[in-house]
Amino acid sequence: MHKKTLALAALALSAAPAWADHPPVAQQGGRLAEAHGHRMELVTRGTVLEVLLKDEHNQPMPATGYSGKAVVMAPGGKADITLSPDGTMLTGALPAGADLAATVLALKAADGHSMNARFPALQAATPPAADLVAKGKPLYAAKCAACHGEALQGQAGWQAPPGAVKLAPALDATGHGWLHPDTQLAEAIRKGSDPMPAFATEMKEEEIAAVIAYFKASWPAATLAQQPKAAGPAATAVSAAGGGAHHGH
Ligand code: HEC
Repeated sequence: MHKKTLALAALALSAAPAWADHPPVAQQGGRLAEAHGHRMELVTRGTVLEVLLKDEHNQPMPATGYSGKAVVMAPGGKADITLSPDGTMLTGALPAGADLAATVLALKAADGHSMNARFPALQAATPPAADLVAKGKPLYAAKCAACHGEALQGQAGWQAPPGAVKLAPALDATGHGWLHPDTQLAEAIRKGSDPMPAFATEMKEEEIAAVIAYFKASWPAATLAQQPKAAGPAATAVSAAGGGAHHGH
């Protein structure tokens, strides 16, 4: 499958831009760029910078044989970060305070081609209001913590539940709730999803909003910034700010 993926990616180099059929999607809520038949999604996860490599169909590509660096325009000045392959991504360690910073990537593909991509700074999102967070705290403890965990950590082993069991995911930034806009999170809480009960009748709209504010208060600035603002393909919220890219040889 990887061979075929690579062959397709190689084809895309000579073909007319194929992007139109398969618009780029920010599967991880990150910033997008395209270069040299690759789609790159830049995701800031805590102190780790992740560069996800995808083909023109948004399918993950193995990062084996790729190398490169990221230049992060951190508040204290530029910082060079070495990126190393890790499955379908390249990762590097972010300096403190650089999580929203504009970033330039210089990568060398497995076939020797070099590619560059530029990602503008993330727009800081307004953190949830303190009074709403305070209101959400006891509601969360009473109605959600039994499953999602006292510290928002989710049920043990939720990432890989055994068999068909559904376990409550983490609601902090280690979960995937932040890939959804608030409107979808509210809908998930109203409707429930077996074994999660529906809260539509039990909770008022402003109580649901308060609980969302409570768990969002645990998210780092970059996670808040990468959360889509409105429903629809995650890409629309972020790709508008996505990077321009060019490639060289
Ligand atoms: C009985 C256990 C249980 C309770 C109580 C519960 N949940 Fe859940 N919750 C789950 C499970 C299990 C899932 C995953 C459902 C699925 O995969 O279909 C889930 C999913 C979610 C999701 C979607 C997360 C994502 O990453 O897509 C949100 C948001 C959520 N719950 C919020 C809450 C909130 C807020 C409360 C309290 C008002 C709550 N839940 C109470 C078990 C529970």
